[in-house]
Amino acid sequence: MNILEIIANKRDGLKLSKEEINYFIENYTNGKVTDYQAAALVMAIYINGMDYEETTNLTLAMANSGEVLDLSDLGLVVDKHSTGGIGDKITLILMPVIASIGIPAAKMSGRGLGFTGGTIDKLESIPGYDTGINIEKFRENVKKIGISLMGQTLDLAPADKKLYALRDTISCVDNIPLIASSIMSKKIAAGAEKIVLEVTVGSGAFMKTIEDARKLSETMISIGKLADKETICVLTNMNEPIGYSVGNSLEVKEAIEALNGNMQDDVKDIILELGSNMMKLAGKGDNDEDNKKIIMEKINSGEALNKFKELVQNQGGDVSYIDYPDKFEKAKYIMPVIAEKNAYVKGMDNEEIGYISCSLGAGRMRKEDTINNRVGITINKKIGDKVEKGEIIGYIHADDELKGALAIKKLLNCYTWSDEFVEKERTVIEIIK
Ligand code: URA
Repeated sequence: MNILEIIANKRDGLKLSKEEINYFIENYTNGKVTDYQAAALVMAIYINGMDYEETTNLTLAMANSGEVLDLSDLGLVVDKHSTGGIGDKITLILMPVIASIGIPAAKMSGRGLGFTGGTIDKLESIPGYDTGINIEKFRENVKKIGISLMGQTLDLAPADKKLYALRDTISCVDNIPLIASSIMSKKIAAGAEKIVLEVTVGSGAFMKTIEDARKLSETMISIGKLADKETICVLTNMNEPIGYSVGNSLEVKEAIEALNGNMQDDVKDIILELGSNMMKLAGKGDNDEDNKKIIMEKINSGEALNKFKELVQNQGGDVSYIDYPDKFEKAKYIMPVIAEKNAYVKGMDNEEIGYISCSLGAGRMRKEDTINNRVGITINKKIGDKVEKGEIIGYIHADDELKGALAIKKLLNCYTWSDEFVEKERTVIEIIK
């Protein structure tokens, strides 16, 4: 077997065998297959596709290219993952809820890149919070208090890391078999027993249509079945940001508010749906209505908030910021964005909202960029809301006045308007099992 034959087979539309896929991944990870050969094969996959069996074999080969964690000593670990979004603070709220129900919340999260944010950057806006703990400490935390959220310090799925970076440079990111195998390889390597995936759909997501989101979901569920990792997908709307804030400490503050029982409707819908499905997979309740009641009780009683505080304290964070969120340092300029006419909000360019937040310093366009935790956007008006001329529809939080002024203009351009009434969009679109 050699790489030229494998490239030629995929180029000619043939199905790749498990051996061919393993050969490619092993030799790409160790550097014997070059980037230009891998690029040719990835492009052939992009054009000719892969069936479920090939996609599963690719997933397992990537998962096994580095360390594979075994977390079975912690109990039945149900992982949660989002395919990416704007204003996505769901993990910060959901994992303490899950832990307070008694399901081990052992989660490794990523940093933001491009227009989507990352949970690890958000957690690091809490002074002192250590996302870089080692795996022994991670296990110890979960055993002691039922929850730990850390960054990916281990070399998990290194083949995916290399392939993802390559795909980014050859316009091959938005491909269902490649996205599905990339996500599932990391989840399998991180030791998940069962997985709930939030598959985002819309202008701020990789999947722009419900049909594509369904195909991605079905592919990941099929990989889950073949890899013996039961998987449920929850399709959620990403045509507008989740909640009302975009930016690191702004989102942490919103998450604290939510854990205090003051949740935006869309945040609540996602928490209840993901949470209920995690409970089902963990064997903690089969009935959606009952599960959702339990989740609300955990929030309203303050148990979930206390779990979040325990998490922060246990990882070295300053809990006084959770008790008094006003302590979070504010951006230098908090600039109102003012509506220019009377209208209903018809649509929002959500991806652009992510880029505006990045341009203020809240995200990174390159891996080595540093993050400014203070900056971001507050959104007061979303799809279906009525707006009056002169009304404040949001705020730009900027440390640089010129960047802030530019962001105001850009944010106004993200909105499309209608004179007619506009229906609000559904947050949870469908569940695929
Ligand atoms: N997220 C991933 O982890 N991989 C992809 O390919 C796309 C989104």
